[in-house]
Amino acid sequence: MKWVLLIHILGATIWTGGHLVLALTVLPRALRARDPNVIQEFEAGYARLGMPALLVQIVTGLWLAYQYLPSPAAWFGFGSPVAVHIFVKLALLALTLALAMHARLRVIPKLDADRLGVLAYHIVAVTILSVLFVVVGTGFRFGGW
Ligand code: HEM
Repeated sequence: MKWVLLIHILGATIWTGGHLVLALTVLPRALRARDPNVIQEFEAGYARLGMPALLVQIVTGLWLAYQYLPSPAAWFGFGSPVAVHIFVKLALLALTLALAMHARLRVIPKLDADRLGVLAYHIVAVTILSVLFVVVGTGFRFGGW
């Protein structure tokens, strides 16, 4: 449990930390220069770490959730604060994956200076979701915020 939690927290530093750097430093630079390449260069390096980190978060997160509530049906039952936290985490995950798929399939293939704004909204939204993952995560052991 200790090791899984450690890996989960390390993954969180990569996923949330990387997105905060992207949203707060790389994105403003790209918008100022009206240059999508600034983001693409960052993504080329970050994707190698960020995507495996998200995968690790999903696997370790599901494992941790299973330790709290060994019946996955209870994750959707709102029967306790822990169940609500697990449900919210899964909802955040669904939103994150939907935004990522939309960006990859619809926005990035046609990306140019005019469409940079659409990508900016995606980046800001995924970054807010990534911070919410951490906020909800720290609520588990204190029964919520
Ligand atoms: C990028 C995605 C995620 C991030 C950034 C993230 C981040 C965090 C953080 C910072 C904690 C606090 C750990 C602590 O209090 O010591 C946590 C706990 C937790 N997370 Fe996540 N998480 C993510 C995805 C998930 C997913 C998909 C699940 C699956 C339901 C999940 C389930 C849990 C559980 C059950 C805990 C409680 C662990 C404990 O306190 O013992 N997480 N998460």
